[in-house]
Amino acid sequence: MTLSKALDILACGDLIGMPTETVYGLAGDGTNKHAIAKIYALKNRPQFNPLILHGYAIEQLEKYGEFNEKALKLAAHFWPGPLTLVLPRTKNCSADLLVSAGMETIALRIPNHPVALELLRAYGKPLAAPSANISNQLSPTSRAMAIKDFPDLHVLEGGGCIVGLESTIIACVDDRVTLLRHGGIAVEYIENLVGKVNFPEEGKILAPGMLKKHYAPQTPLRLNAHEKSEGELMLGFGNCKNADLNLSKNGDVVEAASHLFSMLHQLDEMAIQNGAKGIAVSPIPDAHLGRAMNDRLMRAVG
Ligand code: TXA
Ligand code: MG
Repeated sequence: MTLSKALDILACGDLIGMPTETVYGLAGDGTNKHAIAKIYALKNRPQFNPLILHGYAIEQLEKYGEFNEKALKLAAHFWPGPLTLVLPRTKNCSADLLVSAGMETIALRIPNHPVALELLRAYGKPLAAPSANISNQLSPTSRAMAIKDFPDLHVLEGGGCIVGLESTIIACVDDRVTLLRHGGIAVEYIENLVGKVNFPEEGKILAPGMLKKHYAPQTPLRLNAHEKSEGELMLGFGNCKNADLNLSKNGDVVEAASHLFSMLHQLDEMAIQNGAKGIAVSPIPDAHLGRAMNDRLMRAVG
């Protein structure tokens, strides 16, 4: 699909697939409530799960969210990039309320992907975009994966997603900085810039995306497995001998993160085809991006 076709579809209130550096998004005009409703409907997403508004410049997104000093610092440093900021909605915020599912805050992000940035600049208005997968399915890290969940969707080609994990979500409200979702930027880097990051209390859901069962292949997963047992496929990490697929033979967590969803997806397909009963997953070190990966894997187990 060409850029001009994508712009026409958006202007009509319809949806397109948009590549980003994290995962492909199912994008619609963030100021058009019909487009937003279509996103929820197509994704089969519960109404209470709000969306991220994507833009191309801080000055543009300042019309939608109130940036305090820490938020500005984070935006200036990490945008464009895999960081989403949850901020109070501005008084005259023209993003449809459905975008933030009726809440007083709004999630904002500038993606670091040339195709997405070109699209966002050309369209001018911000785009609401959740990951382009049906709710509770894996997030797509290639155009083909997005089309698999939404066969009729026009998806811009943008190659494989370099980060391969969704953005880290940080709320900057009332001078408190709170982590809402682990993701493509490790919390350590955020703390280096703005000091202490609060973690939500155990069991308390701040982002509905923290619902436990969120990233689930159909085949049961067994985590921290050192080898596979009979009837299982194996997703390896590092020096794993009988892996069917290996996230990173060198044990590089950044490389591993970029493969996580696509490999889970491939193994899930293989398991369904040849009747494997489970997928064993090697231990992943629980630091930096490894922590976001373990978070995703634990949710997939449920
Ligand atoms: O990397 C990403 O963030 C990708 C790409 C496409 O940008 N998008 C993505 O969107 O992962 P989605 O909809 O799958 O996840 C967005 C998360 C949801 O868990 C939602 O609950 C949370 O953001 N969220 C959005 N607005 C929020 C708000 N106002 N307060 C708290 N959480 C919010
Ligand atoms: Mg998602």
